[in-house]
Amino acid sequence: MKTAIIGPGALGCLFGAYLTEGGLDVTLVDHRPERARTLEAAGVFVQGVRGDHHVRVKATANSSSPGPVDLVIVCVKAYQTEGALRSHGSLVGSSTTVWSIQNGLGNLEAMARVIPSSCIVGGSTTMGANLLGVGRVHHAGEGDTFIGELDGSLSPRVELVAKALSAAGIRVQTRPDIQRLIWRKVLVNVAINALTAILRVRNGVLVEHESSMGVMEEAVREAVRAAATRGILFKEDEALAQAKEVSRRTAGNRSSMLADILAGRRTEIDYINGAIGAMAPAPVNRVLTDLVRALEATAASRVDASA
Ligand code: PAF
Repeated sequence: MKTAIIGPGALGCLFGAYLTEGGLDVTLVDHRPERARTLEAAGVFVQGVRGDHHVRVKATANSSSPGPVDLVIVCVKAYQTEGALRSHGSLVGSSTTVWSIQNGLGNLEAMARVIPSSCIVGGSTTMGANLLGVGRVHHAGEGDTFIGELDGSLSPRVELVAKALSAAGIRVQTRPDIQRLIWRKVLVNVAINALTAILRVRNGVLVEHESSMGVMEEAVREAVRAAATRGILFKEDEALAQAKEVSRRTAGNRSSMLADILAGRRTEIDYINGAIGAMAPAPVNRVLTDLVRALEATAASRVDASA
């Protein structure tokens, strides 16, 4: 299966390495030529739960290469989705399946602004990965990966992708409720990402203190109510229990938003807590959004203990 992965971050590199090893014809697609050259010259190094892997990969920043593929896996940050597909539209032909496994809300809508919606399938993953440097990934936790048609049908194309990925060693399921699974991950990200970035703590710390747990609970309750406005129903207590369980299971992880703040990068706040605040009355999510935006804006003025 000819595959292009847009976005060689932690997940993009992880999938790129494992799928290449598993025999798929994979190209990592980047917008930065020098990074693509480094990836092609040095390959991807993965360390972690599956041991050490060094995999030679194909990588390009050329917007017309490798041409239309069978499968595009979209792994860029949510705020890059539309621009990335505009730059690399030549990957998508009439029979290409374009599959987002990104965090946050609004990715599918952003994709549909650029490519035919008939190409788009939804997805989500609980694979845990952190980027250590260009093409260097820590695979922190094994996880499940989901793919599904947006209308809930189980089509031959999602079965085909799932079969190819399973054969390459990725635990993948086809699902009729993919929108719900995307939201299920958003509820976890709403609970963990902004708070860990603001408090500068690893995921597990949130559930050790009543004060942080209280904020987490309110943020999740608001997000469950926002999901309901879109016809996606969760029980508040189950959503909360899930968020706490993920905090405990990934206790030692830095969330992706904390990693972004520590690296001085833009975060996905507008697509997580910000999207909830834009959808329904959600005062806690609005404050979390404002605080993370303020963290981004004031990065250069941070005072530390020595100053
Ligand atoms: O964005 C993240 O960091 C992850 O989705 C999660 C599940 C919060 C674990 O760190």
